[in-house]
Amino acid sequence: MNNRLTESTAWKALEMHFRELRDLSLRTMFVQDPGRSERFSVKDQGILFDYSKHRITDQTLSLLFQLAGERGLAEKIEAMFSGEKINITENRAVLHTALRAPKGSAIMVDGHNVVPDIHEVLEKMAGFSNQIRSGAWKGYTGKPIRNIVNIGIGGSDLGPVMAYEALKFYTQRNLTFRFVSNIDGSDFTEAVHDLQAEETLFIVASKTFTTLETMTNARTARSWLLEKLQNGQAVARHFVALSTNEKEVSEFGIDTRNMFGFWDWVGGRYSMDSAIGLSTMIAIGPDNFYSMLEGFHRMDEHFRHTPFERNIPVIMGLLGIWYIDFFGAMTQAILPYDNYLKRFPAYLQQLTMESNGKYVTLDGERADYNTGAVYWGEPGTNGQHSFYQLIHQGTSLIPCDFIGFRTSLNPLPLHQDYLVANMIAQGEALAFGKSADEVKKENVPDSLVPHKVFEGNRPSSTFFMEKLTPEYLGKLVAMYEHAVYTQGVVWGINPFDQMGVELGKVLAMKIIPELQDVQKAVSHDGSTNNLIRYYRG
Ligand code: F6P
Repeated sequence: MNNRLTESTAWKALEMHFRELRDLSLRTMFVQDPGRSERFSVKDQGILFDYSKHRITDQTLSLLFQLAGERGLAEKIEAMFSGEKINITENRAVLHTALRAPKGSAIMVDGHNVVPDIHEVLEKMAGFSNQIRSGAWKGYTGKPIRNIVNIGIGGSDLGPVMAYEALKFYTQRNLTFRFVSNIDGSDFTEAVHDLQAEETLFIVASKTFTTLETMTNARTARSWLLEKLQNGQAVARHFVALSTNEKEVSEFGIDTRNMFGFWDWVGGRYSMDSAIGLSTMIAIGPDNFYSMLEGFHRMDEHFRHTPFERNIPVIMGLLGIWYIDFFGAMTQAILPYDNYLKRFPAYLQQLTMESNGKYVTLDGERADYNTGAVYWGEPGTNGQHSFYQLIHQGTSLIPCDFIGFRTSLNPLPLHQDYLVANMIAQGEALAFGKSADEVKKENVPDSLVPHKVFEGNRPSSTFFMEKLTPEYLGKLVAMYEHAVYTQGVVWGINPFDQMGVELGKVLAMKIIPELQDVQKAVSHDGSTNNLIRYYRG
């Protein structure tokens, strides 16, 4: 096998194939091949994944599968699941899949079975969640906890807040949940402005327990609590920590008995089903949390054991590569037709872009092909009245993922039919558009015809499921996690480190004292110096 992606046999064949296919329209493809929607869809895990509205033929797929084969995807999937240290830059295993492994299973890291450790933490989380939910856990003044504030950022925030919003239907409504992430003092201030300290629990969520934003917010929270309750002993009843770093947790002053641990082989953006999910478990209850884990696990099994031809995350990942590397599409829209999934696109931004936003390959070379796309999106139908114009008639090609459910959790008359009709219609409009002849038949004045033409040929996937349950949420998240890994393997990059976030953090630490001390000399470039001086006033 040649290690250079662009010199591999399948890549070269795909380049040639792309030249033949790029002008073929979806209209023609559907006319010539009426069976393509059956062939290019997978029904598995209770998900209908329709990918027939993509600019592909049987040959495209077989070349993409060949590419995956040449890049060793099957072996790399096995390597991840079996705990090999595939995060080579940090010399770590990557085992978010172990977080949802069934209780009796065995997954070894450095000769140690980690599954019992995982279940021990889950049981501790369940015990604590039940105490909060039942009111048995009392605050310092003896009142039950009614407000839960999760303090974290990145993976220690986006997963919890996304899951809370997604599963709000299942939450215990006498509890209030808030999520503080931003270093901007307004985030903390607004989160607590109407809360009673004696009824408030702070969950400090940080894998490292050193992140500037989280530790600053956590210290502010502690001061806020102490100012209200006037006793240092209150901290033990009102603060818990979710972390891998016991030493920092105890230095912060949180009793490590009130700490829920996880491990360095869980990446921040892959951690919503670890102890980082404590706020989710308190909100929806342990049983629902376990069924979310079950959903994750089922998708893991699907990814691990299903042939590529019917493997949902593998097909998703390869389709992304087809557009990013051959069509030059640089963005991917995520369009959930379920309002509860409003934070899902934001969650996926970190998952996908922090994972695959890298130009350096595992060999330390610069990739001579495009990698990670920009992910973005909003729930339908809201997006339709905002940015869909550009998806339909703009100059960029934007593949879309439509995500929908047959049954509404809140079935008001008409709403669900209207919602689903819109989702289906958007995929149809994007793929098939409206020709000039069709526009003219509507007696449109000639001068307006070009404006009303939809050229179509814009690709989309549709993921259709029964109902937004905790189990389906688990499946959806795992599905994208594994699509990300599929792409990382083909691109030959490491999706599990995030070195690109470091430089800005280091420079900020240098700038902080320069902002605080107006006498301090500034020694950056002209622009940076100027900005610092402006702030100093
Ligand atoms: O700065 C990026 C990052 O390291 C993310 O990968 C991570 O999810 C986030 O910061 C928060 O990190 P921590 O959980 O250690 O506070």
